[in-house]
Amino acid sequence: LSDKMKHWYEGHKFAAKLYHHILTVSDEGREAREYLRKRGFTKEMIDHFQIGYAPNSWDFLSQFLKKRSFKMDEMAECGLVGLRESDGQPYDRFRDRIMFPIWDRRGNMIAFGGRVLNEGHPKYLNSPESEVFNKSENLYFFHQARPSIRKKNEAVLFEGYVDVISSWRAGIDNGIGGLGTALTENQAKMIRRNADKVILCYDSDEAGMNATYKNARILQNTGAEVVIASLPEGYDPDDYIQKHGPKRFLQDVISNYMTFTAFKFRYYRRGKNLQYEGDRLNYIEQMVNAVSQLPRAVERDYYLRQLADEFSLSLEALKQEQTEVIKSQQ
Ligand code: CTP
Ligand code: MN
Ligand code: MN
Ligand code: MN
Ligand code: MN
Repeated sequence: LSDKMKHWYEGHKFAAKLYHHILTVSDEGREAREYLRKRGFTKEMIDHFQIGYAPNSWDFLSQFLKKRSFKMDEMAECGLVGLRESDGQPYDRFRDRIMFPIWDRRGNMIAFGGRVLNEGHPKYLNSPESEVFNKSENLYFFHQARPSIRKKNEAVLFEGYVDVISSWRAGIDNGIGGLGTALTENQAKMIRRNADKVILCYDSDEAGMNATYKNARILQNTGAEVVIASLPEGYDPDDYIQKHGPKRFLQDVISNYMTFTAFKFRYYRRGKNLQYEGDRLNYIEQMVNAVSQLPRAVERDYYLRQLADEFSLSLEALKQEQTEVIKSQQ
């Protein structure tokens, strides 16, 4: 471990403490406190996830870092401060944002996700990628969730920080989050090493559905059993919990998951009008293709029957189609 890395970790820890203090007790933090309260964040959540607030100032953090003799070039490299082009003077990179610390798998604080209060762009400003913060090798809250993931042999993967936090409050302690990028093979393996099963619970919008489809495949390729916990259109896990409460979230969303194949039945349907023969045939072909990839004959049979029933087709015709699909893939 190089000295520079140690300084990076210390810088983040120090900043998180200051931000947390500002959020929880200071005058400057009042609006942020109010914002979080309205969104249903409790004191317990704010403490457990060490959430903070970066005040609306150009030099709040940089002054404190200087006083503690942190080296500004190091703090700039990990993105806690920026350096002014004109004279090299440091300025705070995060201003007027709710701060979510991000840890690596060993529990070192390596980055921040900073959310604007209310509407504003970008919604999240994250630490830049650096030697300490590699987005494709880390997952939000993995270091804390890992023991539970191992014990339950199951992980719940969310899209956003707030979803992990809200679900934790609802009782899910094996929840982890992506970091605003597509899931990588490394992240999938990181999960797989600790559990056989992954529940994907992404936002129910276009982006979330596409990410579910893509990431489920990536996870499946590691040999994990992947299931999908789906939400009503337009909701994300946090929205659902705020609207319907933790109990219904656990019962009707998390426990009520479907197989990846069942998800595909929905996924391939989007943008199609199944009244039209062309769309209908196309859909049936996509599903037969998906079903043909299932390893077990009983599973294949089960889904083919479902298709046959829905479209009033004979099971024999679908099986024939399937045989052709399998042949063409060999
Ligand atoms: N994200 C990001 N940068 C953005 C938008 C999103 O890094 N400009 C990442 C964040 O990790 C965020 C996740 O993508 O948590 C999911 O984005 P989104 O669904 O838009 O945000 P929410 O997590 O739902 O945040 P909130 O509930 O606060 O709106
Ligand atoms: Mn506290
Ligand atoms: Mn989203
Ligand atoms: Mn969301
Ligand atoms: Mn949200």
